Amino acid sequence: MPPPSMDAIRIRGRRRLEGTLRVGGAKNAALPILCATLLSEGESRLRNVPGLRDIGTTAALLDVLGRKTTVNIPEVRVGPATGAFFEAPYELVRQMRASVLVLGPLVARFGEARVSLPGGCAIGARPVDQHLKGLEALGAHITVEHGYVYAKAPRLVGAEIVLDMPTVTGTENLMMAAALAKGRTTLINCAREPEVEELGRVLNKMGAKVDGAGTAIIHITGADELAPFDHAIIADRIEAGTFMAAVGATGGNVLLEDAPLDDLEPVAVKLREAGVTLERDGNGVRVVREGPILPVDVTTAPHPGFPTDMQAQFMALMTQCEGRAVLTETIFENRFMHVPELQRMGAKIAIRNNTAVVEGVGPLSGASVMATDLRASASLVIAGLVAEGETIVRRVYHLDRGYESIEKKLGGVGALIERIQLEGP
Ligand code: EPU
Repeated sequence: MPPPSMDAIRIRGRRRLEGTLRVGGAKNAALPILCATLLSEGESRLRNVPGLRDIGTTAALLDVLGRKTTVNIPEVRVGPATGAFFEAPYELVRQMRASVLVLGPLVARFGEARVSLPGGCAIGARPVDQHLKGLEALGAHITVEHGYVYAKAPRLVGAEIVLDMPTVTGTENLMMAAALAKGRTTLINCAREPEVEELGRVLNKMGAKVDGAGTAIIHITGADELAPFDHAIIADRIEAGTFMAAVGATGGNVLLEDAPLDDLEPVAVKLREAGVTLERDGNGVRVVREGPILPVDVTTAPHPGFPTDMQAQFMALMTQCEGRAVLTETIFENRFMHVPELQRMGAKIAIRNNTAVVEGVGPLSGASVMATDLRASASLVIAGLVAEGETIVRRVYHLDRGYESIEKKLGGVGALIERIQLEGP
């Protein structure tokens, strides 16, 4: 048998980035919207869908749920319902926590859902208690057995639900469930992320009445039936932010086509303080960095705070600053896994509890590194771009969950970066 092979990314660093790069559709908007197709009987069509592993996993899940899903990036078609399938198996849920987003739609539509509990992941424990508490408030009877959540309800009924924290997928799950519930639901302390707002737009297209998505209080009046839809997904603010941090780190001048600057305001403020120029240019954003990189402190927070999904990439940028930056992570308890790898590349970072103190060191030194989650991998790619010599980033499957052809996009603006195959595990 041939030895197992794995993709890796090889980077030869210290090149300025120049040119034009297009930002794709938002992963974290596409995933809940794909799950929302389950709320209707007919065929739905999504456009501007990014070509990511998580999209493939969701398509496989929809297939298992009786919806023939055709992925033809940037388009995905979810075929008409072929029966009442309401079980999301462990095999798929364990690959992607966001699979829990089928729970709300399934119990709302079929009165029954059996969804594997996602469990913890590399970045933290990530419980789903708020999803379950909200569904119970809508009238579902919930039991957890053999690693599965079993939810049952004859018909969900609108209710007032106060979330203990503004959970993104929790808010989305409850919005979808409420869209088919009888009467009016009020969700309080909601996540305000642009992806939540986008889901509200889609549910309105389907015939629900959603008011306030993108704010802390969302009112939803459910419908007896919802219609299929055709929708183009918003651009990915985290992909755009990652490329902004990359250009900031290497220096250069890059036009990010379709970058959603409004959704990125909390990141843009910090990048500008660090010395990165961001200007609207046509339908995108021009990113320029010529002068020094200044130290900037950030603390992650729910939107409109600085996103946890940009913390690792911002840290890679701060390894290049003139001074010392303090980065504090408040959303996930274990989201500094990129730090030991950055240290292996010569970064000077001290961690104390949920705070990382980063001393700018100038050029990093290329090394073989690997990461255990998506955004940590992205930060190592940025580190590789500013390192002397060769960097190999292993476990590219993490990157492929959330970045479409990152090597082609960065290669197109002058980075020396390629995908290679490594022998062995
Ligand atoms: N939380 C609970 N109970 C719950 C739900 C959440 O205690 O029932 C806690 C979490 O443990 C965490 C905090 O609340 O400490 C916020 O978690 P949230 O539920 O908002 O995260 P999520 O919905 O599971 C989404 C994104 C993540 C992103 C977070 C935070 C999707 C599919 N995923 O996750 O994206 O980091 O919001 O913004 O939208 C990524 O794309 O790399 C990624 C991890």
